[in-house]
Amino acid sequence: MAFEPKDRFFHKAKSEGFVARSAYKLEELQKKFKLMRKGDFVLDMGAAPGAWSQIASKEIGPQGKIVGLDLKEISVKLPNAKFYVMNAFEFDPKILEGRNINCLLSDMAPNTTGIRNTDQARSFDLCEQVVKVSDEYLSAGGHLVMKIFEGPDVEKLIKDLGRRFAQTKRIKPEAVRKGSFETYFVAINKKDGPSKV
Ligand SMILES: C[S@@+](CC[C@H](N)C(=O)[O-])C[C@H]1O[C@@H](n2cnc3c(N)ncnc32)[C@H](O)[C@@H]1O
Repeated sequence: MAFEPKDRFFHKAKSEGFVARSAYKLEELQKKFKLMRKGDFVLDMGAAPGAWSQIASKEIGPQGKIVGLDLKEISVKLPNAKFYVMNAFEFDPKILEGRNINCLLSDMAPNTTGIRNTDQARSFDLCEQVVKVSDEYLSAGGHLVMKIFEGPDVEKLIKDLGRRFAQTKRIKPEAVRKGSFETYFVAINKKDGPSKV
């Protein structure tokens, strides 16, 4: 495993009760783009250990609801969140309980092999699956955030999102580790409604 120094975000997360430093990535994106509002229904894909859901939980308040999924068990307890062990490629819409999503979050990352092309291609496959779930269940006017490992496929993804959302931003939050090739897409205001209910 690569050496990961405990930086200021690690210590901040510890002192503020977040289960991972990744909380500050979503916090920054939320501040900039106002992606979630009180009462929203949020799907958090790749939610473990639960830091993004902790941020989302505060933003949507007690009237809102988060459904999170991951390959791994999530142990964090939040009053307005329910978590499932589920592979994103076997997405079961039953977990949405008939609701459409207002904000779709994906911080999913494949297990890395160290072979950049392979890792990037796997990350792109995850993003394509997120776009599929967005097509099917994200409301018109809804927002999407997803992580991708930078590489040649990024341009295709920008085009895919550009067709579906009013605005697409590519951004590296401050909490992304130096030298990391991950980046985030924030897609704002979905043009069409969900193709499934
Ligand atoms: C960087 S972590 C997410 C951190 C999380 N956002 C947080 O703040 O706590 C990436 C997660 O993606 C999950 N993941 C990778 N592939 C997945 C898949 N096919 N389906 C569901 N989750 C997946 C991993 O298990 C891992 O927990």
